[in-house]
Amino acid sequence: MRLDKYLADMGLGTRSEIKKEIKAGHVTVNGELIKDPGFNKVTSSDHVIYCGTEISYEEFVYYMLNKPAGVISASEDPREETVVDLIDERTRRDLFPCGRLDRDTEGLLLITNDGGLAHRLLSPKHHVDKTYYAVVAGEITEEDADLFREGLVLPDGLECMPAELVIVSQDEFDSPDPDDDTISTEILITIREGKFHQIKRMFEAIGSKVIYLKRLTMGPLTLDENLEPGEYRRLTDTELDSLMKL
Ligand code: URA
Repeated sequence: MRLDKYLADMGLGTRSEIKKEIKAGHVTVNGELIKDPGFNKVTSSDHVIYCGTEISYEEFVYYMLNKPAGVISASEDPREETVVDLIDERTRRDLFPCGRLDRDTEGLLLITNDGGLAHRLLSPKHHVDKTYYAVVAGEITEEDADLFREGLVLPDGLECMPAELVIVSQDEFDSPDPDDDTISTEILITIREGKFHQIKRMFEAIGSKVIYLKRLTMGPLTLDENLEPGEYRRLTDTELDSLMKL
């Protein structure tokens, strides 16, 4: 890899700032002074010192984000705040969300620059389980849970894979709108695929509506309950190991 790219990837400045430091003689690779920014033989195991500081290169980075509502699942957008904008310790320019949550959905989202892992997590072939907590309008019954378990067919013909629906509680509330359902049901649902608006469409198909949706797990990852919406942290080594086994 080129030395200036290696240093820029680690967030040490723009390519042109870094080139200036290299030309000024402030960078060594394995003890050798390198003044050519185009030097392109640096590898992740080399010992690089930049302006007196030892740099250790990370090819891939992994963040667990608790996505807040109101933010879009994209890397960049000219108008809207994206989930990648929330990663302010960002050193890499190549981060992206591993999968999508709707703008109003909260919860677990992995942000990374590891395309191979994203493929393994998202590929329809791999069927990674994802569990969501939801509040839905109306009464949800065990018969509905059976329909989900058997594999729902949506009005547009989409055949959903079997999904596990667990009813957590049922609440009554006073609604100012007389047409509103005054019963809501809290549920946990585990799906093995990730079609567009999948959970919302599944509840629509049984005549209900999702009021609140939050992803709790994705494969072996579980949302860290210490993360408030909008907060993130790096994955632990144990979490990473579990992902690498997928
Ligand atoms: N299903 C949905 O309907 N929305 C999401 O954001 C995720 C799953």
